[in-house]
Amino acid sequence: MGTKSEVMQPDLFENHPDEAGVEDSSKSPQSHAASFTKVQLKLEKLKHAIRRHDELYYVRSRPEISDTEYDQLFRELQILESQYPDLRTPDSPTQRIGGAPLAQFSKITHEFPLLSLDSEMDEERVLAFDQRVRRELDVKHPSYSAEPKYDGLSVALTYDHGIFVRGATRGNGLIGEDVTHNLRTIRALPLQLSEGGTVPSHVVVRGEVFMKLPDFHALNRRLTEQGEEPFANPRNASSGTLRQLDPAITATRPLTITCYDFMSLGPGRPSTHFEAVTCLEAWGLPVPQFRRYCPSIQEALEFHREMFERRDVLPFEIDGIVIKIDRFDWQKALGEKSRSPRWAIAFKFPPRKELTKVQDIAMSVGRTGALTPIALLDPVEIGGVTLSRASLHNVEEVARKDVRVGDTVKVERAGDVIPDVVERVPVPGEERGAPFQPPTTCPVCQSHTIQEGPILYCTGQTVCSAQLKGSLEHFASKGALNIEGLGKKTVAQLVDKGFVKDLSDLYTLGVDDFLQLEGFADKSARQLFEEIQKSKDVPFASLLIGLGIRHVGTHIARVLAQNFGSLDNLKKATEEDLLQIRDIGPEIAASVTHFFQESRNLKVWQRMESLGVRVQQEANVSEPFAQLLKGKIFVLTGTLKGFSRQEAKRKIEELGGRVTSSVSKQTDYLIAGEDPGSKYDSATTLGVQILNENEFNFFIQSGSILPSSSPDKGSIK
Ligand code: IVH
Repeated sequence: MGTKSEVMQPDLFENHPDEAGVEDSSKSPQSHAASFTKVQLKLEKLKHAIRRHDELYYVRSRPEISDTEYDQLFRELQILESQYPDLRTPDSPTQRIGGAPLAQFSKITHEFPLLSLDSEMDEERVLAFDQRVRRELDVKHPSYSAEPKYDGLSVALTYDHGIFVRGATRGNGLIGEDVTHNLRTIRALPLQLSEGGTVPSHVVVRGEVFMKLPDFHALNRRLTEQGEEPFANPRNASSGTLRQLDPAITATRPLTITCYDFMSLGPGRPSTHFEAVTCLEAWGLPVPQFRRYCPSIQEALEFHREMFERRDVLPFEIDGIVIKIDRFDWQKALGEKSRSPRWAIAFKFPPRKELTKVQDIAMSVGRTGALTPIALLDPVEIGGVTLSRASLHNVEEVARKDVRVGDTVKVERAGDVIPDVVERVPVPGEERGAPFQPPTTCPVCQSHTIQEGPILYCTGQTVCSAQLKGSLEHFASKGALNIEGLGKKTVAQLVDKGFVKDLSDLYTLGVDDFLQLEGFADKSARQLFEEIQKSKDVPFASLLIGLGIRHVGTHIARVLAQNFGSLDNLKKATEEDLLQIRDIGPEIAASVTHFFQESRNLKVWQRMESLGVRVQQEANVSEPFAQLLKGKIFVLTGTLKGFSRQEAKRKIEELGGRVTSSVSKQTDYLIAGEDPGSKYDSATTLGVQILNENEFNFFIQSGSILPSSSPDKGSIK
C-alpha cells in the first residue's frame, strides 16, 4: 500500500460513524484547548483505523478497504501530524521509518534466554521423544501444539503497556543485537497492541522474521538490475535486511514476521501454549496461520505430513514443524537443558532434492590454485530458489559419481549450504557426453595443472588472475587484514584493469584509481583508500593469514606469530627450527620454508614494507586463559547462532586451544551447534565430550564450564 495524497473520506472510519472534521481554532476565540482535544481525538481515531487496516491487510490477509482508501487515511494522518508535530507519537503508523543510519548495533542482554530447539529428522525419533515425555511426566496422554518451523530469524519483541519499545535478534541466546529500528519498518508488526484481551504491562514476544518468496524474488530482481549481488535464499535476504544499519534501506525490503510465544511476569498467562498463541492473535500480532492442537503425538505426525505436502505451495519457506508440549505446567515439569527445552522438538523435513540436467562442467579456480568442478545445470527451482550451479567438489568425485555433460542428476539444497550434486540418475535412452577429463591446463591462465590427492591445482600462481583475485579477497577478508569495502567486485575490477598485479600493489593505489572503478564516488573511493592505509599497521598473525601460505590458517598463524615475533625471524627459520614447535608438522614446516625461499614472495613483502606496511607486536593472550585450553583439541559441528565458525575458532585459539576438522580419539571437545552433522555421532561413539552453544558461550565468557554439562565426562582443567 502506498501513501498517495488524496482527500480523506470520513466514512472510512470503521466503527466511528460520528467522526466530524476538526474545527478551525481561529474561528472560536474561547477555546484553543477544546480544539486541541478534538485534534487529539481525531488523531487517535485515524491511528486506530490505520492500525486496524494494517492488521487486516498484513496480518490477517483480509483487507476491507482499497489501497486508495487506505492511502487517504494515511495522508490525512500525516497532514494532521505535520500541523501538530507535538502530538506525533512514536507508536503512530507514520513513524515506522525513522532515525538515521546506525554506526553499529548495540547489544541487548535478553531478559529471558532465547532457547533453541533440538531437531529430529525421522518419525521414530519423534516417537522416542513422546515416550520420554510420557515417562518423565508420568502421563499416558501428553497433548501437543504443532506449528510450522519458519525458516527465518528469531527475534524478541518487548511491549511495555502495549507499546513496542524494543526488539533484538537472538544472538547467542543470551545477548542479541538491538534491531528495534528495523523491526519497526515491518508492517505486519503492530507498534501498539490492540486492547482486545488483557495485555500485560510488560511482555516479551518471540517471533520469527522472514521474507515471503514473491518479495524475495522481487528484491533479487531489483538488486540484479542495480548491478548488486542477489541473495542466495530468503533466509539470507531476511538476515541481511534485519541486520542492515540503515532503516531506510530495510523499509524498502519487505520483511514479515510471525509470533509464537510470549513471556511475561505476573498474572494473565494462559495455561496452554495453544491459548497463548490465541492471546497473541487477539493482541493483533501475526501468528502461524497453520497451527494445530494435537491430542496425541499421532496428530502431530499427521500435521508434519500435511505441512510437508503443503510446503511447496506456501509463499514462504518452512523447514519442518515444531512440536511443543501444550500444557505450560507440563513444560515446566520437563524443564530445559542449557540450550534447548526438553518439552519441544523441531521435526525437520528432509533436504529438498530435484532432478535436472548437466549442461556443462566448468572449473572454478580458487586462491590456492585448487580447481573445483562446478556442474552448470538446466535451471531448477528448489524450494523457491532457482539453482543453475552445484558443486562437484573435486575431480575425483566427478569420476566417482561418473557425472557427464547431458546427464540427469539429483541436486540437493539443505538450508544455506551450497547445493550439491548428489548422484547421477540413469535415464534409459538419454544421450551421455564423454567421460569427464580433468583439464591439463588452467581455464583462466592456461598454466599446467597438477593433481595432488583428489585435488587438481593450477601452477600459474601470480600469473593466474583467478588466483590473484582469490588471494586479494583473502588478504582483505575479516580474518586477515580486514579491509572493509574491498570485496569480490572491487577486487575483480582492480585485477582486470591491471591496477593490481600482486598484493603489494594495493598500497600504491590512490583515490583516483578507485574513482575509475564502477560503483565508486568521491566518498566511497576515499573511504576505501583510508581503509587500505589503516591496514598498513597489521598484527603479525593477521599478516601471516593474509599472505595465504598453504596450511597456515588462523591457529598456525598465531603459533608462528607467538614463536617468532617478526617476519624477519620467521624468514630465517629452517624446517628443523619449525619442527621444534608443537603443532607444526612436516607439511606446514615445508610449506612455510618454501614460501620464504620463493624470491617472488620476499619481493612482495619487501615492497609492502617500503610502502609503509608495519607488523604490530603480537598482543599476548592473557596467561590464565591461554593455559586453560592449552593443548585441547576442538571440533565444531552444526550452526552456531551467536558466532560464525571463524569467530568460534578464533575464540578457542585465543584461549590456547586448537580446532580440527574431524572427530578422532584425540579430540577433547565437540562444540555442537544447531543441526549437528555426523561428527556428533562420531563424538558420541568415541566418548568425546560434547558442549552445546550455551555451554561453550558460558565457558569462554567465564572461563569455567557450566555445572550442568555432562558431569559424567569430566570438565575442562
Ligand atoms: S519455538 C523454546 N516455534 O527455530 C522454543 N521456534 O531451531 C523456542 N522457529 O530459534 C522456539 N518457527 O528461531 C519455535 N513455530 C516456531 C518456530 C521456531 C521457527 C525457529 C526459532 C528457533 C529455531 C530453533
